[in-house]
Amino acid sequence: MKVEMEDLHEEDATVCDSVNSLVEGCRLPVHMKGTDDWPLAELISIKEILGTKCYYVHYVDFNKRLDEWVTEEYLDTRKVHFPRRDGTSNTGVSTPKKIHFGEVNSRPSSPIPAPSQEILNGNAVLAAALQKKINSRKRKVPTTENEDSLEAPAPPVPGPRQSGSMVAHHDDVVTRMKNVNMIELGRHRIKPWYFAPYPQEMVNLPCIYICEFCLKYKKSRKCLERHLVKCNLKHPPGNEIYRKEGVSFFEIDGRKNKQYAQNLCLLAKLFLDHKTLYYDTDPFLFYVMTVFDNRGFHIVGYFSKEKESTEDYNVACILTMPPYQRKGYGKLLIEFSYELSKFEGKTGSPEKPLSDLGLLSYRSYWAQTILEILITMNPVGENEKPQITINEICELTSIKKEDVISTLQNLNLINYYKGQYIIALNKDIIDSHRKAMESRKIRIDPKCLHWTPKDWGKRAKW
Ligand code: ACO
Ligand code: ZN
Repeated sequence: MKVEMEDLHEEDATVCDSVNSLVEGCRLPVHMKGTDDWPLAELISIKEILGTKCYYVHYVDFNKRLDEWVTEEYLDTRKVHFPRRDGTSNTGVSTPKKIHFGEVNSRPSSPIPAPSQEILNGNAVLAAALQKKINSRKRKVPTTENEDSLEAPAPPVPGPRQSGSMVAHHDDVVTRMKNVNMIELGRHRIKPWYFAPYPQEMVNLPCIYICEFCLKYKKSRKCLERHLVKCNLKHPPGNEIYRKEGVSFFEIDGRKNKQYAQNLCLLAKLFLDHKTLYYDTDPFLFYVMTVFDNRGFHIVGYFSKEKESTEDYNVACILTMPPYQRKGYGKLLIEFSYELSKFEGKTGSPEKPLSDLGLLSYRSYWAQTILEILITMNPVGENEKPQITINEICELTSIKKEDVISTLQNLNLINYYKGQYIIALNKDIIDSHRKAMESRKIRIDPKCLHWTPKDWGKRAKW
């Protein structure tokens, strides 16, 4: 069978009479759990568990967090695309390059037992809907932030920010697959989204038990309980630099609290697919956001930040722990990161590439922040229209110029009129902005931030 990479049609598919002839790399429609859809999926791994053949599938047009183990009845063997002999796929969708850290020896975990699938299914429906939203948006966005920015990072360039212990490699069957079935973190049981290089003895377990305060990981609840007797932390290490209405931020130096920083990176990798992770945490600061109750300060999310960034990055990686997602905490983390930049008197931008959810969150934050300024601006004189320059918007918000411009373009606000650029706000956009701001209940109060930026460049060593 000869198939052109760019030109794959249904008729190129082969009817496969037996699932036994399916091999890794085959592409075929697969019933996505929790939905009525049968999207095209690639078989990443085939395994026999207790006499039942199980297939680890990746839905070609969907984020990897939806990858899952399925059994035979989920496969539509009437339309199978077999892999080409040279090992490439025949649908023209290449596997992105990825980077992960450390020499690891983790194998893909076993198919997840039935009960835990339910948690995945809720996510599947949501993520499928999200993917549709993103696909439809992707077509509209300018080239600087189009599909490319959602793809995996370029191969690493050796430099001062990249640790020697980091290993660059092509996405392989091991790191493409989720290897941790479940984690328990405080009161939450969370299903991981992606591979993370936990030690071999930790993967393939039904659950990894993580101390929610120091982030050490344990094989069993018993081990964790023993640890909790000794562990007297009730909050992340480092300095509490912000507190308001139960929300706190702790600043952690990746050099001073190396083990915590590494455990945090490892935990975060379960939900971050596309970012480089470092064993060398020295060049980073970690800002951990917590919510407080009578049991302690519980981690909600974090972002990391290079002590010195030549590219004006003010965030390296950002994460809201899944149980807290979609409640406004992501925007709170982003707002905090810009507040730090304001204190530094700089503009900043998140490190690229952004994930699908990262892009959505930043776009929404930038749009709301810039609209807030435009809408509340006062005219200079009577009968005058308010005036502002892009640079002034940057100064007021610490949002980097290119992000301000792309936001104004995305919102379709810039018009060219009588030889100059003007921003025209209509009633609809003002109304929907006001509504959106009303729903942003938790905000950062700069008065509660007790922090002075350090000039890391002046220090001999971080
Ligand atoms: N589906 C649709 N929209 C979503 C979803 C989702 N699953 N998650 C967030 N959004 C939208 C929200 O609707 C909101 O936009 P709106 O206010 O205009 O409606 C916006 O994104 C932010 O929502 P929050 O509730 O403030 O953000 P959340 O706490 O969910 O955190 C984050 C967002 C940090 C990106 C989270 O999804 C996450 O941790 N994802 C996994 C890790 C990741 O991808 N991080 C970003 C990588 S890029 C980088 O590190 C620089
Ligand atoms: Zn602990």
